Parts: sequence; structure tokens; C-alpha cells
Amino acid sequence: MFFSELSMAPADAILGLTAAFKADTRTPKANLGVGVFMDESGRTPVLDVVRHAERALLEEEQTKTYLPIAGDPAFGEAVRQLVLGADFCTEGRHGLATVQALGGTGALFLGARLLGTFRPGAKVWLPKPTWGNHRSIFRGAGLEIAEYPYYSATLRQVDADALVVALAEVAPGDVVLLHACCHNPSGADPDAATWTRIAEAARKGGWLPFFDFAYQGFGDGPDADRAGLLEILRVVPEAFVASSFSKNMGLYSERVGALTVVTADAPSAEATLSQLRCIVRATSSNAQRHGGAVALKVLQDPSLRSDWLAELEGMRHRIVANRTALVDGLRARRGDVDFSYLLRQKGMFSYCGLTDAQVNWLREVKAVYMVKGGRINVAGLLPSTLDFVCDSIAEAMGQNLPG
Ligand code: LMR
Repeated sequence: MFFSELSMAPADAILGLTAAFKADTRTPKANLGVGVFMDESGRTPVLDVVRHAERALLEEEQTKTYLPIAGDPAFGEAVRQLVLGADFCTEGRHGLATVQALGGTGALFLGARLLGTFRPGAKVWLPKPTWGNHRSIFRGAGLEIAEYPYYSATLRQVDADALVVALAEVAPGDVVLLHACCHNPSGADPDAATWTRIAEAARKGGWLPFFDFAYQGFGDGPDADRAGLLEILRVVPEAFVASSFSKNMGLYSERVGALTVVTADAPSAEATLSQLRCIVRATSSNAQRHGGAVALKVLQDPSLRSDWLAELEGMRHRIVANRTALVDGLRARRGDVDFSYLLRQKGMFSYCGLTDAQVNWLREVKAVYMVKGGRINVAGLLPSTLDFVCDSIAEAMGQNLPG
């Protein structure tokens, strides 16, 4: 017997919250769990530019036949320009190759499988804390996981000194996962000086940076958000960059992302691409058309591209406004606590400073859902629930809960 020996797996720590929230019949309730953008009415809208691109594709598309295994080469080129910037792409100091992937997770998976195949047992250093799926993806590829200190709950920011000291000890050939911007879950990003120190550690240490760039555009904008990544790429010969259109184009369920490899020279990029093609072939066979075609159309059409950047800016501004409203609301209720750290955090997520016991209490008693560790999706705050959320968090802070 096989199936009868299997036991129930636990619900996913993030996506499982959405199912629990939907099943919760209490009102009011608030979902600050999964990282999806919501507008003021709580909808996760299809971007206008995506609708335009989809209408155009409906007219233009002539076939649904298979794409090349790694996706449309024009998609790869457009992704590289977005992720690395036009200047880096034209410098010609590196080899570059891009494979379309099933969202940011798929991109991480491809990189992990490549490492697992050609550097089996390699050690992957993850920031502490990090997105829960990182561990599963890299461990699933047979890689050893280690952690480096990243966020200090005491300082309520990146612990730059501890981080740099730890990265200086990473062995050559090990892999270091870095969130290029909008760190998930804390929202705390390295400042420019810390990126320079990380770059120096990478250059001296000879380790391989693996960037998770799932939130490009949600920090300070698509160009500014790649500053730290470029600081490192200027001094290292090789890197992985996993990117996604889930958030910045709102293409969540289309599962469209990409893995870009930066290599020392063009032949290495060609060889790496050929190996990545083998992995894609054995997992999802070849690239999915629709999401990639939508993203490509938006990136290639100058008018759609500029409208997209405006829509992206609108999402970013709403998140910043939500942060301010949250901090104002919390300050009004808990004048004794300094919440200014929330304003320094970037992107969708914030570590709000609550303990796991308080997070559980909020869910069980108040129907306010957030991820273990106290991560809240700031983009999920709504005008209709803001007071309720602030009241509930303030009350949770007053609870003296064990654990
Ligand atoms: C999140 O962290 O909430 C998002 O990246 C969604 C996910 O797949 O976990």
C-alpha cells in the first residue's frame, strides 16, 4: 500500500491563511496574510494595461502551438532589460541568459535544480528570516540550508554588522540568497552603504549570489529597486536572478516569471541555458504562452509600458499611504510605542512587531489574519477595516500571552 500510508501535510503557512480567512464567517475580519495587492475595496484588480494587452492578443494571436522550451527569446530579452537595466545588458562584460518560469517560485526552483544537479549538496545561505518557501525549494533540490542573520527584532531593522560579518565567513562556492528589494517577510532592506559592504563580501568571498527579485517596482520603483543588485553584479562574475510578474503586473495566477543567469562570458551563458532547458523539459516541458505574451506586450509597446509604470506607481503609492495610515492609527492608540520603523520598511510587507502568540490571538479572537512572525501585508489594509485592524493590534499588544 502507498497512499494509505501518507499522513496529512500541514496547511501552507501563507496560502493556507487565505482558505481559513475565506471560511471564517465572522465580521468584521481582515486578511493581512498572503502578499497580494488590494485596492481600496479589497479587490486585486486586473491592471488596465493587462486588459489592453489581452484584448490585442485576442485579435493578433494566430496559434497556441508550443513555444521554445525557454520561452520566446524576445521575452527573455525584455526581462533582462527590466531586471538588470539596459546599461548592464549592453555593457557586454557578462554572458546573460533567461528562461521563462512558472512565477518567481518556478524561477527559484529552476535555479535550485540546476545547483542540485551540478553542485549537489551545495550550501545555500538564507537570510533569517526569509520567505518560507525558500527553504522548501532549495531543500527539495537536495541542497544544504544555512542561515545568515538579517533582521534584528531589537533594532527593528537590518542588522548590517551581523549580516556582513556572517557573509564574510561564507565559503567560496556556497550560494547566498538575497532579496533584491522589499524583503519578504520583514520589509526591511539594506541601505546603500550595506549593499556596498555585501558586494565587498561577495567579491572577496567568491560565493554565488542568488537574487530573489519578486517585488521589483514596489520599493522605490523598477530602476531604483535594482541598485543593490547592480552594486553586487559590478564586482562578481556570476549570479542568479529570479524575477516575477505576479506582483508588479498583477499576473499572480498566470504564473509568469523568469530565471536570468549572469555568467562570466557568453559561452557559459549558452551552456547554462542549454542545461536549464533540460530541466524545464523534464518538469513543465516548455514555456506557457499567455502570461509571458501579456508581459512581453506590455514591456515592448511604449504606450502600454508607460501606462504600466504609472499603474505600478499607483500601487506603490497606495502601499505607502497604507503604511502612514497604519502608523497614525497605532500611534493614536499606543502613544507609548515608537512605530516609526514601519515607515522605513519597503514593499508589501511589514514586520509589525507582534509575537506568534499575539498573531494567533488576533486570528482566533479578532479574525485578523497575518503570517506567523508578525508579517502583515500592508497592501491588504482597507479604509473599511483600518480602525478595526488598529484597535485589534493595539489590543493584542496589551495581551500578556505566553510563548
Ligand atoms: C507571499 O509571500 O505572501 C507571496 O509571495 C505569496 C506566496 O506564494 O507565498
